[in-house]
Amino acid sequence: MSPSDEPQAAAPSAMAISNAARREGEEFTHVKVDEQARYASYPASGVHESFMTRSASTARSALRLCPMRAQTQRPSGQRQFRQWWIGQWWIGQRSTTLVSMSFVPASTAPSVSITGTGLFTPDQSISNDELVASLSVATERWNEEHGAEIAAGELEERALPDGAFIEKASGIASRYVLDKVGVLDPDRMAPALETRSEDQLSIQAEIAVAAIEEALAQAGRTGADVDAVILGASNIQRAYPAVAIEVQMAIGAKGWAYDMNVACSSATFSIQAAVDALKNGTASCVVVVNPEITSAHNNFEMRDFHFIFGDACTALVLERSDDALTSDRWEVLGTRLQTQFSNNIRNDAGFMNRAEDAEREPHELVFRQNGNRVFKEVCPMVAAHINDHLEASGHPAASVRRFWLHQANLKMNQLIAKGVLGRVPETDEAPVVLDEYANTSSAGSIIAFHKHRADLATGDLGVICSFGAGYSCGSIIVEKA
Ligand SMILES: CC(C)(COP(=O)(O)OP(=O)(O)OC[C@H]1O[C@@H](n2cnc3c(N)ncnc32)[C@H](O)[C@@H]1OP(=O)(O)O)[C@@H](O)C(=O)NCCC(=O)NCCS
Repeated sequence: MSPSDEPQAAAPSAMAISNAARREGEEFTHVKVDEQARYASYPASGVHESFMTRSASTARSALRLCPMRAQTQRPSGQRQFRQWWIGQWWIGQRSTTLVSMSFVPASTAPSVSITGTGLFTPDQSISNDELVASLSVATERWNEEHGAEIAAGELEERALPDGAFIEKASGIASRYVLDKVGVLDPDRMAPALETRSEDQLSIQAEIAVAAIEEALAQAGRTGADVDAVILGASNIQRAYPAVAIEVQMAIGAKGWAYDMNVACSSATFSIQAAVDALKNGTASCVVVVNPEITSAHNNFEMRDFHFIFGDACTALVLERSDDALTSDRWEVLGTRLQTQFSNNIRNDAGFMNRAEDAEREPHELVFRQNGNRVFKEVCPMVAAHINDHLEASGHPAASVRRFWLHQANLKMNQLIAKGVLGRVPETDEAPVVLDEYANTSSAGSIIAFHKHRADLATGDLGVICSFGAGYSCGSIIVEKA
């Protein structure tokens, strides 16, 4: 009888695994076995040496191995991963079950949880129709003003925008902005934002504080409990002092603060930095904040770009799980980041502009992209990233209850989720906020998490994933505690 003809052995019960874990000298209160783990057959000669015995090493023998992965929870509430093999040793028709052959030592790093989220949404919203009407006037004016160059073939006539295209191509129906009047003014096509004096709170710090206050209230914390602020955004109001340090002062936090920019992936990259700081003990209560004033760097003059972005700010509180005051917490089971250089999304505004001799095309100094190339290249990259992260963490895609994906394009999210789940997801599995908010850069996946998590139950798994310029991609696997 060959190993493949042999009857499948029953998967060992959670009780057997729990007992095996106890034999290793640890007390566990909960063991959740990865039901997707499957038996694999190996010829006796090819198995791991610890399974070989001289007497059983015959040509007619085989070892069937089942890689078991289990989440275990200590009485303290700390959760971790354990992995081991359960085997069946076949000689002819007879088999012996071997349990708990090896343990992978568990990480001793403390568990970290998201204990609060907050969202600042501007009170002004622009519909596609309003945006199209304004750009149509501006485009007709521009074509008229440049009639001679267009006739001479020196410039290309600009085509008019179309609201139906926007919704069909992107799924975006409206967006919030800090100043609607300036954006819709065909002579301006940019928000009118006040220049504040040095003793006033900057605009970016102000919206950050609004989102942080909500997140701290959820966590049962005040600014005085915070000892680290990481501000991540696609564009930061000034070079220095860090806006994060201004936010730290405004909320009365201790410790340290810094700004960072990985474009649309800034939230997940700052979450990983926060998790690392909490695990290392360099902070005990971290605020991650993503104030995205996209309207100030969006190009409202070009039909390819004018509809893409909206303004918003999100905030998260992260703490070691043992320190959490709220029971509504989300344990971070794993973080994974990835970057790969591309010129397909760029913004060349920077401190070197004034020192450059060659004149820059004004459209280079705000957001620009080759959207079609981004779509084609980023979707497979992100699907593979999530699949690899889930596989390495021992969580099959089917066990994930919800994906809170970056909100840039509805079709893009459907394609990515299909690459992970093997089918188009239900809205409930991959919630959408971009119809109302448009692309809010790094805030997008966190807005989805903020608005669409209350219905999940203890033990439910989710993935927060952002992606964008760089290219960059970050995923955070979380479990409702
Ligand atoms: C931007 C995006 C919605 C455009 O959709 P698309 O189907 O790729 O459309 P294309 O860019 O190929 O444009 C198709 C046509 O529509 C036109 N078009 C673009 N915007 C338009 C608008 N507002 N109104 C009417 N037509 C428009 C284009 O000029 C092009 O015209 P052409 O065929 O005459 O050249 C889509 O590519 C996308 O979302 N990409 C990913 C973006 C992303 O994730 N970026 C990350 C940033 S953080």
